[in-house]
Amino acid sequence: EKGEYAHFMLKEIHEQPSVVRRIVSNYFDNGKSRIDEKILNDIKDSDRIYILAAGTSMHAGLIGKNLFERLDNIPVEVHIASEFAYQKPLLSKKPFFILVSQSGETADLRACLVNIKEMNFPILTVTNVPTSTLAREAKYFLELFAGPEIAVASTKAYVAQVAVLALIAYELSNKDFDIREELTKVALSIENFLSCQNMLDVTRYLLTHRNCFFIGRGLDYYTGLEAALKLKEISYIQTEGFAAGELKHGTIALIEEGTPVIAIISDPKISHNTRSNLNEVIARGARTIRIVTSEVAEAGDEVIVDAVHPLLTPMVMVVPTQLLSYYAALERSFDIDKPRNLAKSVTVE
Ligand code: F6R
Repeated sequence: EKGEYAHFMLKEIHEQPSVVRRIVSNYFDNGKSRIDEKILNDIKDSDRIYILAAGTSMHAGLIGKNLFERLDNIPVEVHIASEFAYQKPLLSKKPFFILVSQSGETADLRACLVNIKEMNFPILTVTNVPTSTLAREAKYFLELFAGPEIAVASTKAYVAQVAVLALIAYELSNKDFDIREELTKVALSIENFLSCQNMLDVTRYLLTHRNCFFIGRGLDYYTGLEAALKLKEISYIQTEGFAAGELKHGTIALIEEGTPVIAIISDPKISHNTRSNLNEVIARGARTIRIVTSEVAEAGDEVIVDAVHPLLTPMVMVVPTQLLSYYAALERSFDIDKPRNLAKSVTVE
């Protein structure tokens, strides 16, 4: 039930700190990881990880790629399930497959699974539903422990997916930090943000526009892709997530007086580059919002979240964008939990 919240989406956004804490407590037993050694060994045995997913789960997969590559030096490819199923890329010799799916029922992923099983490669499904088709039919599965996600727009499952992918990547790494501590800081950062910031004012000026852009670099670019999907699916504002440096290679032609451009900035090494891309769009009339971490914040930045471990930053950067989508849809009086034309799980290819 929704309890004190007007919509499931808002409730689920607010559940995120407890989801992160639950994952930490369920995945560790007296400090020892509960991830099956067999999974870790199969990954170690492989020469490449292929992450397959759709929509929001695919965006979590992109963050996962960064985690495995940075922490473990394992090359990772992320593929859209509906593309992989019918146009298989050239595979490496010993691939390991990770299927990421909140519902565990996405038909495009099932088509991939059947295909991969025929080739006899190991599959791990990361899902919120342990009884689902994709959990049952894969060699391994790991649970998200996000609790039932009712709103069609996925929020807490995304954060849980990133957390579980982070735990797997961490177990394969040389563990030069304590992930339980870092995930606890993530939970605190999200909690702090949710209790202090109201995105409604920031959101209001989006409403008069028919389009919107999110820009960012590196991990913030991936967050921008997820933010764009969420905003368009529930507010029906046409939104694109863009690599900040790529904007000037064509898309900047769409910027006109008042066009909303939202920048996501968390990486101190490239913060000034994204800020200079913002100046380029401001000079062409864009109205901008900066969503930043406390580490890179400058005077005038509109939305600030407490900085966390750099590899886990996407888990906190996404939260303001979830609220922004929520309020945009609320102000436009749309059916937030059941946007038009969409179903919670997509069981047709
Ligand atoms: C967007 C959203 C969808 C799903 C996608 C995959 O908010 O929820 O993009 O992420 O349909 O669904 P699952 O994760 O159930 O495979």
